[in-house]
Amino acid sequence: MNVSPSPRPIPPDDLRLSVAPMMDWTDTHCRVFHRLLAPHARLYTEMVHANAVIHGDRARLLAMDAGEHPLALQLGGSEPDLLGAAAKIGAAHGFDEINLNCGCPSDRVQAGRFGACLMREPQLVADSVAAMVESCDAPVTVKCRLGVDDDHDWDRFVAFIDTVAGAGCGMFVIHARNAWLQGLSPKENREVPPLRYDWAYRLKRERPHLQIVVNGGIATLDEATAHLAHADGAMLGRAAYHDPYLLHRLDVAWFGGELRTRSELLRAMRPYIEDQLARGVYLKHITRHLLGLFAGERGGRAFRQVLSEGAHKPGADWSLIERALEVTESFAGERVDAA
Ligand SMILES: Cc1cc2nc3c(=O)[nH]c(=O)nc-3n(C[C@H](O)[C@H](O)[C@H](O)COP(=O)(O)O)c2cc1C
Repeated sequence: MNVSPSPRPIPPDDLRLSVAPMMDWTDTHCRVFHRLLAPHARLYTEMVHANAVIHGDRARLLAMDAGEHPLALQLGGSEPDLLGAAAKIGAAHGFDEINLNCGCPSDRVQAGRFGACLMREPQLVADSVAAMVESCDAPVTVKCRLGVDDDHDWDRFVAFIDTVAGAGCGMFVIHARNAWLQGLSPKENREVPPLRYDWAYRLKRERPHLQIVVNGGIATLDEATAHLAHADGAMLGRAAYHDPYLLHRLDVAWFGGELRTRSELLRAMRPYIEDQLARGVYLKHITRHLLGLFAGERGGRAFRQVLSEGAHKPGADWSLIERALEVTESFAGERVDAA
């Protein structure tokens, strides 16, 4: 085995809880909300292609709020020079980590030969990581699957990890299932191939010098906590988005502090929201990320409804959110625990 130790380990407390990169979802407004709910979570951008970082509208693509750190930029691409240049721009922009996507199975991504199909090209990923490490000081990390299609070969998986780690990647997010490149949509690819957390755990046992974060299908506080016995962290995607209060409960359970109510947390968003509205941002672009706050609670539907129906109307402002809270609270008599 020829693996060099991570040149840039991430502080362990910054790795325990993270929110997955999600296209169209984890934009800056969403991340500000998640940061408020979970002050200790590591946050990820949506995937941005290296070319877009280099040639695109950086102010928009790399937009972040000062309070979002620790925050990782996720890059897509497979050309080492471009990825190196994009990593340099990202790190100079202030991102705390540059992550390479080796897990996305969409057709568009396959046509560009990046995402999950990179699992079949470990040397290209290693060359990309080496170029990124060379060009910036931030930790360079990889998010990957266990394999593609019907490769269920531990040796091939671990050879991929070792090759990439040898180029300077010290942290891997393991979405613990295969990606099916033929015949399954991206959505099905997050549900159909079976989860194999044992591979992520074994990787951590056999490569203890690497930082390993487990991702895929984590839906409850107990499930997330169970992963910490075997890995350095748990990354939540859909559950964090659809039931964001779970993030708050996890943060308090793992890092301490007082559990705050949903209403209290939402009202703490007011300065940010009013500032964004004053800059010309439409309320609906922020409220779409808030809809799940009362998921599973009495009044949760009314909350969604008031926001969904009102946020797109001209002039919609903070008062709509107050109205949604009032309606919701009148249903529920808000509880703090919501376990
Ligand atoms: C709407 C959506 C967009 C996603 N976009 C990305 C992405 O840009 N980059 C990436 O690595 N994974 C992406 N994923 C996958 C998630 O990061 C995560 O690996 C997957 O949803 C499994 O975790 P979960 O079961 O906790 O949701 C996306 C998932 C969803 C639901």
